[in-house]
Amino acid sequence: MTVNAPLLSVRGVKTCYGNITALHGIDLDVHDGEIVTLIGANGAGKSTLMMTIFGNPRAREGRIVYQGRDITQLQTHEIARLNIAQAPEGRRIFSRMTVMENLQMGAQIAEPGHFQEDLERIFTLFPRLKERIGQRGGTLSGGEQQMLSIARALMSRPRLLLLDEPSLGLAPLIARQIFDIIADLNRRTKLTVLLVEQNAFHALRLAHRGYVMVNGRITLSGTGKELLDRPEIRAAYLEGGRQEATAEAR
Ligand SMILES: Nc1ncnc2c1ncn2[C@@H]1O[C@H](COP(=O)(O)OP(=O)(O)OP(=O)(O)O)[C@@H](O)[C@H]1O
Ligand SMILES: [Mg+2]
Repeated sequence: MTVNAPLLSVRGVKTCYGNITALHGIDLDVHDGEIVTLIGANGAGKSTLMMTIFGNPRAREGRIVYQGRDITQLQTHEIARLNIAQAPEGRRIFSRMTVMENLQMGAQIAEPGHFQEDLERIFTLFPRLKERIGQRGGTLSGGEQQMLSIARALMSRPRLLLLDEPSLGLAPLIARQIFDIIADLNRRTKLTVLLVEQNAFHALRLAHRGYVMVNGRITLSGTGKELLDRPEIRAAYLEGGRQEATAEAR
């Protein structure tokens, strides 16, 4: 692997559900230390791409290369062992397990020696989870479940974190905290992030680069700022964001 090769490279990836093609040949790169965001309308194929990178569903065509290794045909548990973690859409925490047990599940892939240290780091990021340590996942509030989903992914000490709509259903203030945490982890620990977000304004401000997906195809890419400045992006994805931006400027 050359020094400048991307950490993750997706080339010509096609994914189908039965006869329906959800991804029509996706090309996307994530470099070491980057936050890359993927934006697009409902049903565009964003979650499908995240899940395809994680091996389920599997790419029918194309190649996914991580750290110079072709992972296209690997099983999900094999991919997880390569220090890729996923916080999927819809949270998917273990609802009958406690907060602590969920975090222990996340840590299974990491070296056991780091558990206590990682737990303390997670509780500094999400003090709310510390207060709820013995509570069952399913009885947490929506926002707390989202925090737990992200915290569990972080407990595996990922090099690449795939985050699917982390702000979904969260109050604006909590969503901001989640974005701040992502930015902070990226700055301090060089955590590399591929982020799917419905809140395109926050996502593009946070990300180094972004891709726009329409009907299973990438139609635009650029730096977060370039995409934020494009009128067609503003018109299609930033109506709410523009209001927020104006409110913030006041
Ligand atoms: N398990 C499935 N079986 C059949 N079709 C599916 C399945 N999962 C997703 N699809 C279809 O694939 C397309 C892409 O869905 P996907 O969930 O990837 O979109 P998305 O961009 O994540 O949308 P959203 O913003 O609403 O989360 C949609 O048309 C969806 O109906
Ligand atoms: Mg989705």
